[in-house]
Amino acid sequence: MFNKAGIQATVYVYIIMMIAGVQTGKLQILRGQSASMACFFREWDKTTLIRWRSKEGILTSGKKVYKHENNIEVQKPTEYDWTLVIKKADDGLAGNYTCETENGTVIAQYTLEIIYPPRIIQDRSSATRVVFEEGSTPNLTCHFSGVPTPTVCWYRGLRDALDTGITGEILRLPSVSRYASDTYICEGKNFVNSRNYTIDLQVNFPVEVDVMEEVIKVQVGAVVSLVCAVEGQPIKEGYWRDPQGKTIISGWKFNVTAEKDGDFPVQYITATSQVGALLSTDFGDYTCVGEGDSNSASKVTRLVQSESASDVIN
Ligand SMILES: *[C@@H]1O[C@H](CO)[C@@H](O)[C@H](O)[C@H]1NC(C)=O
Ligand SMILES: *[C@@H]1O[C@H](CO)[C@@H](O)[C@H](O)[C@H]1NC(C)=O
Ligand SMILES: *[C@@H]1O[C@H](CO)[C@@H](O)[C@H](O)[C@H]1NC(C)=O
Ligand SMILES: *[C@@H]1O[C@H](CO)[C@@H](O)[C@H](O)[C@H]1NC(C)=O
Ligand SMILES: *[C@@H]1O[C@H](CO)[C@@H](O)[C@H](O)[C@H]1NC(C)=O
Repeated sequence: MFNKAGIQATVYVYIIMMIAGVQTGKLQILRGQSASMACFFREWDKTTLIRWRSKEGILTSGKKVYKHENNIEVQKPTEYDWTLVIKKADDGLAGNYTCETENGTVIAQYTLEIIYPPRIIQDRSSATRVVFEEGSTPNLTCHFSGVPTPTVCWYRGLRDALDTGITGEILRLPSVSRYASDTYICEGKNFVNSRNYTIDLQVNFPVEVDVMEEVIKVQVGAVVSLVCAVEGQPIKEGYWRDPQGKTIISGWKFNVTAEKDGDFPVQYITATSQVGALLSTDFGDYTCVGEGDSNSASKVTRLVQSESASDVIN
């Protein structure tokens, strides 16, 4: 019925029936396309002039056109036909059309609906990127214009988007969790076409810190890795502090790396001692610190010196 590439073809739905001797029809015409409405009147008295009337009043009488002269005409394929033709349908021409005799007897009646594909109404919809706190109740909103009124359904995820099965203009996320951070797609759809709009949701939560091991026993000079996970949204910083309270940076004693875990809001901070660099004065409490927007958190790994090789195995 329609051409996805550019909607060049006419979407044209024409339902017609007779109600109490009056032809009654409903036309759905794509914006910009032409519409024609038939009116057949056969009487002995052929001098009767047939009129078309709309919400604007009398449009035509016989073949004479009173309004929209450039856009409207009456065609007579037979002498009994008084077909009203609208060359280019626009929103202003939507409404009811009545074909009648001079004395007001109704012969045909049509409802003209101008249809068009969904389009996002930006200022009544969520921004393309929104940020909420964990535990709040975000409402993701997509308003689409379009006739017939588009239905809206929601998908989650950018690649391999999942159909949430939720429909309607508002996607409510009560008491939202950190795991809800994702891309959400709303699809506005009517029979003319469909259109997607994408909203990136970021759920913020305070940072939390956890260490891989609370106590590590090694010998002087050993290579040891201090590993901690900093979880939070956003994470401004994550680092290790030595027993003297100084931030550890990569150098001759330690090599520090920070790794992300895919799209999860977590960072793994690893400080690995260089071969032979660990001195007896380096043992003590190492603190992993995570800093977020509103808080910071920390946790300690105790580095204990072991005397013998057997201690290391424990
Ligand atoms: C057009 O006609 C239909 C049925 O005759 C009616 O329900 C509807 O309200 C009319 N619409 C307008 C805009 O007058
Ligand atoms: C109106 O005109 C039609 C057709 O010419 C005719 O059949 C009908 O009787 C007329 N009605 C009135 C009220 O004059
Ligand atoms: C979302 O809608 C619900 C219910 O209408 C309301 O309680 C809540 O405050 C809304 N959330 C936001 C962030 O506006
Ligand atoms: C909208 O996105 C969904 C999920 O990715 C996809 O299935 C659908 O085909 C898209 N629709 C349009 C019009 O791009
Ligand atoms: C630190 O570790 C990374 C990854 O293990 C390595 O690629 C890099 O060369 C190391 N840097 C130093 C200064 O040792």
